[in-house]
Amino acid sequence: MPDSKPNAPPELAGIARLRQLTRNPISLVGLALSVVALGNILFLFFIDLTNPHPSPYVGILAFMVAPGFLIFGLALVVLGAFYYRRRQRQSAGVPGYLRLDFSGPAERGVAAFFLAFMVIFIGMSVIGSYKAYEFTDSVSFCGQLCHSVMAPEFTAYQQSPHARVACVECHVGAGATWYVKSKLSGTRQVFKTILNTFPRPIPTPVHDLRPAQETCEQCHWPEKFYGSQLKVFNHYASDEKNTPRQIRLLIHTGGGNPATGEPGGIHSHMNIANEISYIATDAQRQNITYIHVKDKQGRVTDYYSKDANKDQIAKTLLHRMDCVDCHNRPTHIYVPPDVSVDRSFTSHRLDITLPFLKQQAVAALTASYSTTDAAIQGIAKTIYEYYGSKYPDVAKEKEHEIRAAIDETQRIYRVSIFPEMKLDWRTHPNNIGHFYFSGCFRCHDGNHVSAEGKVIRKDCNICHTVLDQREGAGSMASAPGLDFRHPVDLGDMTAVTCSDCHSGGASP
Ligand code: HEC
Ligand code: HEC
Ligand code: HEC
Ligand code: HEC
Ligand code: HEC
Ligand code: HEC
Repeated sequence: MPDSKPNAPPELAGIARLRQLTRNPISLVGLALSVVALGNILFLFFIDLTNPHPSPYVGILAFMVAPGFLIFGLALVVLGAFYYRRRQRQSAGVPGYLRLDFSGPAERGVAAFFLAFMVIFIGMSVIGSYKAYEFTDSVSFCGQLCHSVMAPEFTAYQQSPHARVACVECHVGAGATWYVKSKLSGTRQVFKTILNTFPRPIPTPVHDLRPAQETCEQCHWPEKFYGSQLKVFNHYASDEKNTPRQIRLLIHTGGGNPATGEPGGIHSHMNIANEISYIATDAQRQNITYIHVKDKQGRVTDYYSKDANKDQIAKTLLHRMDCVDCHNRPTHIYVPPDVSVDRSFTSHRLDITLPFLKQQAVAALTASYSTTDAAIQGIAKTIYEYYGSKYPDVAKEKEHEIRAAIDETQRIYRVSIFPEMKLDWRTHPNNIGHFYFSGCFRCHDGNHVSAEGKVIRKDCNICHTVLDQREGAGSMASAPGLDFRHPVDLGDMTAVTCSDCHSGGASP
């Protein structure tokens, strides 16, 4: 019998037999691989369990990559056993096993080398796969690799408050399950892209978006509410002077934390105090017919719109309201042409002295074009010809400013309108506010009434207070403000040092 022990019985049982079967080079490689993979799984699993916010990569390594190696290793063990047993049977008499004998220094050297090699090899493959997955999660992979499909989302994202937040922070989040879910749906999307069957535009709402509690609230935890926010809205009229208008609104965002403000306000919708669920009759959730409110004490109020079909409602699944029902455009903000042009005036990228520029720029932006290139030419033509025919003097005098206005209008087009993807500001309604879309007025229209006669209010001052409103050339200068009136007359306030009397402890 070709065995290390010459007197071993021909038929071994149990563990001894298993050991004998796996004592071949292939099985041993497999065994080493499995042991290292198992070690990795345990280590990564430990990280995933103990870290409150593990990176999605830890999950993918612990639950996909390392187990892949483990399975492969175990398969090798079995494969080796079968292969060498067959070979041994076919050529009985020829030694079929690798003899492991650590008595000689040469064997020990070989074994040490082999072990070291395996560790390095596996370490490197783990790092390699980590890097590969890191790449599939990077902003450039999500936003640029299939760039014509994602161009609108990526472009709008780059201009937004979340430009430095990776796509996966909102679309995948931490943990392995959502990673796998998103990569599976990602694979489907890759096929659609290759086969060119993806929808244009990509429809919203995104139905398998991860709940906001697990994405947005990782950075904006609801306890960190906001008090009132001053928001300044600058507009420019479509008249010859592009007359500026300004509205200063104090928006009552609300708060539940003594550090940031009084409880209540808009963010009382944020699932802390109460639970709001609703039913919409359309895919984009614009026509809301029924709202179900459960407050902290468990009291329930049901609001119906006038045209609500109660039988239909009883059969429909409720949608639980969260951040994304108001902030549905936190980063893919397709700015309406009106707003874009207003912003360019405010930042002096458009020259306000060009007559009717607001009107012309918006007209050029909203005309229908089949491609971006056509739009770029169309915009230049519209604006150029307008001044050439209506204001030939201005065209001559302000040639440079008109050029710049064309450049700026073209830039606006490139970052906000995407004819190739059939997408512009109208495609995805923005639910913050109520100016261009129903937004808050989907419910706060005064027409959603409960059985007891309670109404979801539309009063103009429950969400904000108008602090100031102006019109005309001077209106964009910052508000002059008031003089501070000290309770005790101290004369010239610039001459005093507050902390001489105010200590933060006992009153002065
Ligand atoms: C701040 C969080 C956030 C980030 C960062 C983010 N998204 Fe989104 N994205 C959303 C939300 C929320 C929606 C869902 C809008 C809805 O359902 O109406 C969405 C929707 C989308 C859609 C559907 C179409 C659309 O325009 O709404 C695509 C495609 C998309 N995101 C791709 C990306 C890509 C690519 C990146 C990175 C370049 C990215 N997202 C980064 C929050 C985010
Ligand atoms: C990885 C962290 C992170 C995640 C996840 C995240 N945000 Fe933000 N968000 C930020 C940061 C940072 C800012 C501040 C940007 C600034 O001050 O310019 C911000 C700003 C905002 C603002 C203020 C925008 C403005 O006009 O100034 C809103 C609203 C907002 N986020 C909503 C959301 C929503 C809704 C989600 C989930 C879909 C979300 N965020 C997910 C980090 C995040
Ligand atoms: C009922 C609609 C609504 C819901 C639900 C909602 N928000 Fe808001 N949020 C607003 C409005 C309105 C503002 C005021 C800013 C504005 O008008 O752009 C605001 C402001 C913010 C700001 C910016 C505050 C600032 O300094 O300007 C952040 C961040 C934010 N919300 C995050 C969230 C997160 C996270 C959630 C979910 C936990 C959420 N919001 C749920 C309506 C809502
Ligand atoms: C899905 C329906 C729905 C939408 C959309 C909605 N709300 Fe509300 N909102 C409600 C309901 C219902 C209440 C009353 C809650 C209650 O009965 O306790 C409410 C109450 C409020 C309150 C407290 C008002 C009061 O009477 O004291 C404010 C402020 C508010 N909402 C702001 C907003 C803003 C701002 C938006 C848009 C960004 C918005 N809501 C969008 C359903 C909605
Ligand atoms: C349910 C809450 C709510 C109610 C009720 C409400 N608003 Fe608003 N309104 C908002 C929010 C939120 C914004 C800020 C939108 C944004 O950040 O872009 C806003 C913005 C505005 C603006 C600035 C728009 C701009 O782009 O210049 C005006 C003006 C305004 N509201 C007037 C009114 C008037 C008039 C009423 C009464 C008919 C009213 N609002 C009722 C929530 C509300
Ligand atoms: C000479 C001492 C003195 C100086 C200097 C002084 N204060 Fe005061 N301050 C007072 C007194 C006295 C009161 C009234 C306390 C009361 O009525 O209970 C007061 C009240 C106030 C209050 C009202 C809040 C409260 O606690 O009643 C404010 C706000 C305030 N001071 C701001 C300032 C500021 C800002 C400066 C620096 C520019 C300043 N003070 C400098 C003595 C001073």
